[in-house]
Amino acid sequence: MGLRAWAPGRVNLIGDHTDYMGGLALPMAIGLGTEITGDRGGNWVMLGSDGFEGVAEIPLDGVPDPATVEPPWARYVAAVVREVRPRDGLVGMVHSTLPAGSGLASSAALEVAVATALGADRVNPVAAAQACQRAEEAAVGVPCGIMDQLVSIAAVEGMALRIDCDTLGIDTVPFPEDAEVVVIHSGEHRELTTSAYAERRAECEAAERIIGRLRDADPVDAEHIDDPVLRRRARHVTTENERVDALTSALAQGQLAFAGELLVASHASMRDDFEVSTPALDKIVGAVRGVPGVYGARVTGAGFGGCVIVLCRPKTRLNMPVVWRGRPAAGASLSAT
Ligand code: GLA
Repeated sequence: MGLRAWAPGRVNLIGDHTDYMGGLALPMAIGLGTEITGDRGGNWVMLGSDGFEGVAEIPLDGVPDPATVEPPWARYVAAVVREVRPRDGLVGMVHSTLPAGSGLASSAALEVAVATALGADRVNPVAAAQACQRAEEAAVGVPCGIMDQLVSIAAVEGMALRIDCDTLGIDTVPFPEDAEVVVIHSGEHRELTTSAYAERRAECEAAERIIGRLRDADPVDAEHIDDPVLRRRARHVTTENERVDALTSALAQGQLAFAGELLVASHASMRDDFEVSTPALDKIVGAVRGVPGVYGARVTGAGFGGCVIVLCRPKTRLNMPVVWRGRPAAGASLSAT
């Protein structure tokens, strides 16, 4: 019998570069994602792709180093196989509607789609997300947090997820009926592996050695760091954690104007303190702010290019390259075909 596994991409409403420091994040799944169709059986995971060259051919007992597998996209498949250790193989095709390298978590969607197709733990979404997070690091060496994989697995239609990345507790936050999110592409391709992601994480860890856990610190503590770069990084993480809770309440209470201000404040923090925005992203955020119906906008995800999200009234017209628009989508699913 055939199967269809689906895993969505995500936007993060607020709370970026906080997950790997045990902080707070507020992502939601989007309607773009990665689908795997195929049949279980045999001793291999063999997947073709309609978007990438080559075939992923991974033996069920795994490969010693997923990072050396060819073609490169098959590294994610190899790393997930090693984590899930399925008893049966899979022959199928990968099809994705997510633009790769756009900050919409296309690699997490591929990992989660493969894990879902291979029967990863559906009872324990956190364990499945942790397996996919380890797979990302093994495949491409990015020391990422858990947000992307966890929201792709655990998302709920109509809800954002407030993730406490320390306890890994998830609260669903109803997304206001009279709002939607528009995703706009900056035109800049983002490559997480070649970005300064790991460097930012190391800077946050260095700041933590000075003032203690950033998760428990307050923005005032950050001001006590002498090194100006580490001070800015800590200021971003501590203020961003506060903005996650502020946005959670603003959305729950339908305070959309305030929600928009929080997005704009988060963008400024990503630009000035964390230094992961780009002139193209800043320009989009600036341009949409004056448009009637727009509450606010910010870069989403890691930054260094990729996409801006706009929080606005439904059907607000934006003269920009729209990648997707809508309300929060559901998480990963598996069905028989
Ligand atoms: C990437 C990582 C996530 C998170 C974001 C920034 O998407 O995969 O874990 O750190 O960047 O918030």
